[in-house]
Amino acid sequence: MAEAVIFDTDPGIDDAMAIAFAHKSPAVDLLGLTTTFGNGTIEQTTANAVFLKNQLGLDCQVFQGAGAPLEIEFDGPAHHVHGSDALGDTGYDIPAAGNQPDAVTFIIDTVRARPHEVTLVAVGRMTNLALAVRKAPDIAKLVKRVVIMGGVLGSTGIPGNVTPVAEANIFGDPHAADEMMRADWPLVMVGLDVTMKTIMTNDLVERLAQHSQMGALLAEIGAFYQRFYREVLKREGYPVHDSLAVAYLMAPHLFETQAGPIRVATEGLSMGQTIMGDMSRAANYALDGWLDVPDKQACISVQAQAVLDLYMETLMS
Ligand code: BDR
Ligand code: CA
Repeated sequence: MAEAVIFDTDPGIDDAMAIAFAHKSPAVDLLGLTTTFGNGTIEQTTANAVFLKNQLGLDCQVFQGAGAPLEIEFDGPAHHVHGSDALGDTGYDIPAAGNQPDAVTFIIDTVRARPHEVTLVAVGRMTNLALAVRKAPDIAKLVKRVVIMGGVLGSTGIPGNVTPVAEANIFGDPHAADEMMRADWPLVMVGLDVTMKTIMTNDLVERLAQHSQMGALLAEIGAFYQRFYREVLKREGYPVHDSLAVAYLMAPHLFETQAGPIRVATEGLSMGQTIMGDMSRAANYALDGWLDVPDKQACISVQAQAVLDLYMETLMS
């Protein structure tokens, strides 16, 4: 049976790819898209979610979420990475979304209505999830699992993407992310350690574009991302980031994970860093921040080619 998923997102070029991937996957039953600020303002990401829902033919609703982090200022939309409309400045007319129902209420009500059945996938700032757990702590025990795209352990030499140690989704609301990590629920972190190793090549983009309207749309949207990586980061192709969270749902055997308590630095030069402690040593650490923090899983390696094959097969099915 397909896994019931609430997809929390800030579309976003790679978010658009991940939404299409989840929509096409037989393993995923998309219950709703909940939006968060990040790649664009909340108004923009919500408008983009509605646009994608219509373009991709999703039969679930869009719910509008938080417009700002819990405790810090919004660090501003990532225009240089995703374009001024956060969907690659393709020139498509993306109408304002108007009033969409509230994301946090939707998350709480859905999880309570279907205990142990609903998976939360979060591929933007974790603000909505944190607000949901603050408002309804009981849902932590009622979700099936939580899969996030965010963070980086750095254990395989991959650095952060917005500071030397921080990944954008975590840096953008570190307090929310830390609350996610301290909550007692089964959470898997799909971070830069694996997403930076899974690269969408120009050739694959072209194959998708030739295959279907959906592929052509994703290629058009992705062209901005492609240019950013080529011109700014001097590399061909781009990491699929958010799609890896979907790939993890579909094929966890393609990932290797490491278990341990994870905390997020919420201030200073290390703000947004995701730091896994070693439970066997936690009692002897000079700081007690990792004590009594329930273990999480973090992906530390991926069979990247197999994930790309899965992405292509699913999108071309
Ligand atoms: C993450 O940040 C966002 O820009 C992307 O959509 C992805 O979720 C990568 O660090
Ligand atoms: Ca995202």
